[in-house]
Amino acid sequence: MTTNEISKLYEKYLIPTYSHLPLALVKGKGAKVWDVHQKEYLDFFSGWGVSNLGHCHPAVVNALKYQTRKILHIPNNYYGLLQGKLAREISKSSFGGKVFFCNSGAEANEAAIKFARKYGMGKRWEIISMEKSFHGRTLAALALTAQKKYHLGYQPLPNSFKYVPFNDFMAIKEIVSEKTVGIVLELIQGEGGINIADKGYISKLRAFCDKKDILLIFDEVQTGIGRTGKLFCYQHYEVEPDVLLLAKGLGGGVPIGAMVVKKELANTFSPSAHASTFGGNPLVCKASLAVFKAIKKGKLLKKATEMGDYLKTKLENLKKKHSFIKQIRGKGLMWGIELTIAGAKTVETCLNKGLLINCTQEKILRIMPPLVISKKEIDKGIGILDKVLSVSVQI
Ligand SMILES: Cc1ncc(COP(=O)(O)O)c(C=O)c1O
Repeated sequence: MTTNEISKLYEKYLIPTYSHLPLALVKGKGAKVWDVHQKEYLDFFSGWGVSNLGHCHPAVVNALKYQTRKILHIPNNYYGLLQGKLAREISKSSFGGKVFFCNSGAEANEAAIKFARKYGMGKRWEIISMEKSFHGRTLAALALTAQKKYHLGYQPLPNSFKYVPFNDFMAIKEIVSEKTVGIVLELIQGEGGINIADKGYISKLRAFCDKKDILLIFDEVQTGIGRTGKLFCYQHYEVEPDVLLLAKGLGGGVPIGAMVVKKELANTFSPSAHASTFGGNPLVCKASLAVFKAIKKGKLLKKATEMGDYLKTKLENLKKKHSFIKQIRGKGLMWGIELTIAGAKTVETCLNKGLLINCTQEKILRIMPPLVISKKEIDKGIGILDKVLSVSVQI
């Protein structure tokens, strides 16, 4: 089938919730993917941070192969060894907390909203989130997402969410009330345009939340699992959250989400307070355990830091060359190139030339290669981007 024929299937049979680029992928290996016409692309997008290990990492593929022959599903009213092992792995590699498993980033956020409400014991229920945040599309996660464009058509949304500008501590102090029970933020806003939380802001927030007994909740759905050169982005800051939210890269390509809470808070949820039929399914847990192993074995955090530094230099060079690049910003292998012009055309032309990138907030190119990216691949990708940007300026 051709891309065009596949797009016709979508037109006829899918509810049109997505706008699509003209690309139908069939195969992936490492940082490369291939379309139905066998054309090769370099992936500097990683599916919004899902494919952090690259495509079809052998450790994940082998784990899945093995598990499909053992058992595919275990109901959550029985025990599953892999779920226990994965929770231990996540706990030990973060802050010793306890884990609830779900299937996506939105569900991890939903779990955190419900957790905070329980923690508030009917006396406190307000949650503060950040302008330009993104927390998912389910109704409460959407209400938490402080971007009006996503709310349109869905009002009335669940209430008790308050929004403040990102990186503005005074705004939090002004808006907080005796009903506030949680503050949720991404340490690097992904969809919001690669906006990085200041260190001072985060340490003030931590102290403030401690003083007021407010849950500090980090949504690391996009920044987690090595993306920024640490396993979790909060490890760049000298603070720990009360609640950590994970998904995307956690499964190495299969759907899994998780909420990790401080050990001493875990009993806020009791049996049947929250649940998910597929959450922590043995298949995804096996894959996720392979992700953690592969990160350690491949020294991928060190690699992401080194490749991130290399990519940064390359992006700085691009900025010097193209006057319509306003700013580059990022950490590890998560970068934004803020343009003074719209970025959609650049994304499409890069695609035609064999490079996958993304654009968010209309003018910010999002560059997120997999952690397994090589210098040679960075050179190739940046070469394509450079050429495309050189043409954009002539248009
Ligand atoms: C920071 C953040 N939180 C939550 C989500 C929602 O995740 P999902 O699409 O898996 O529901 C996303 C998705 O882009 C995200 O970037």
